[in-house]
Amino acid sequence: MTLPTTMRYVAHRDGGAELMSIATGPLPDLRPDELLIRVQAVGVNRPDVLQRSGLYPPPPGANPVLGLECAGEVAAIGAEVTGFAIGDRVTALANGGAYAEYCAVPATQCLPWPKNVTAVVAASLPETMFTVFANVFIMGKLKAGESFLVHGGSSGIGATALLLAREFGAISYATAGSDEKVAACVALGAKAAFNYRTQDFVEEIRTATDKRGVDVILDMVGAPYFARNIRSLALEGRLVQIAFLQGSKIAEFDLTPIMLRRLTVTGSTMRARSNAQKAAIAAELRAKVWPVLDAGRCLPPVHAVFPFAQVADAHRLMESSTHIGKIVLDLGA
Ligand SMILES: NC(=O)c1ccc[n+]([C@@H]2O[C@H](COP(=O)([O-])OP(=O)(O)OC[C@H]3O[C@@H](n4cnc5c(N)ncnc54)[C@H](OP(=O)(O)O)[C@@H]3O)[C@@H](O)[C@H]2O)c1
Repeated sequence: MTLPTTMRYVAHRDGGAELMSIATGPLPDLRPDELLIRVQAVGVNRPDVLQRSGLYPPPPGANPVLGLECAGEVAAIGAEVTGFAIGDRVTALANGGAYAEYCAVPATQCLPWPKNVTAVVAASLPETMFTVFANVFIMGKLKAGESFLVHGGSSGIGATALLLAREFGAISYATAGSDEKVAACVALGAKAAFNYRTQDFVEEIRTATDKRGVDVILDMVGAPYFARNIRSLALEGRLVQIAFLQGSKIAEFDLTPIMLRRLTVTGSTMRARSNAQKAAIAAELRAKVWPVLDAGRCLPPVHAVFPFAQVADAHRLMESSTHIGKIVLDLGA
């Protein structure tokens, strides 16, 4: 594969979606442990919107160009990489830089396209699969037969969490911001879902679980939900924070239930993890989740696909929060 000397990528400045533009620049440098991917499709994630807004700066040393996941073909192989060939189709959890025609990614964060999927579907997978698997199943230790609540159940993350929870035998509940989203959560595998604008999830979970509470909660809302999440956990329940969409500071909280009910409060952000940690998660995904995707199950819904040049429209859609599932940029469109 002959490489061009320049590529198109999305340039941005901190602020609104209108500050993004398609620019031309050099291809990224390829480190010895990386694959250079000729990108065919890119998943859009809320962290991209936060980074673009100036609220989620990339970690030191990371590619400052937006984009945390992509699918495409291997165009060049770093000197230390084994097990890949030029032209292999991979889907990758990038450390940044995926909003571009070429993206360099540690080979250990690249997985094959699941069988029978398009580039768009392949690109929709890594960020939510890595995040959900790490937070719900590794940190949250969700097991078959246990119960699970995810807030924002119709988001890209929420949809993936509901699909994987059902696949691995958990009983799921979800909250979402409209009746249409609530119906989508049930279609994705929730036993019941609640419209938080009209229903109190604490009461609903209490009734649905016969006052027991749930074993694991995945939360992206933050401060206003913290005390209510604690009340909704069963004995030895686990609360996993992955974002604070409505704030991260609480004025006052009584810690007693954490002690009396042996609760765990934890959280993580995928981007801050080391490449070695991401490689370990990738290995678990390859063994436990990729065979499920190969069988055509647990593929999150793709709500909308935009041509690369319409990246601002993709971000505006995400900011409207009217989507259900994933938003993807198609570089071939
Ligand atoms: N920690 C990590 O490693 C990690 C990795 C990836 C993503 N995340 C986080 O996980 C969350 C979901 O990511 P995503 O890419 O799946 O995003 P997304 O599809 O845009 O989902 C965000 C959802 O949050 C709900 N929401 C609740 N309060 C909101 C608010 N104040 N503003 C906007 N939306 C609000 C919205 O649904 P309703 O209409 O139902 O409210 C929306 O569907 C984001 O917060 C993201 O930052 C964390």
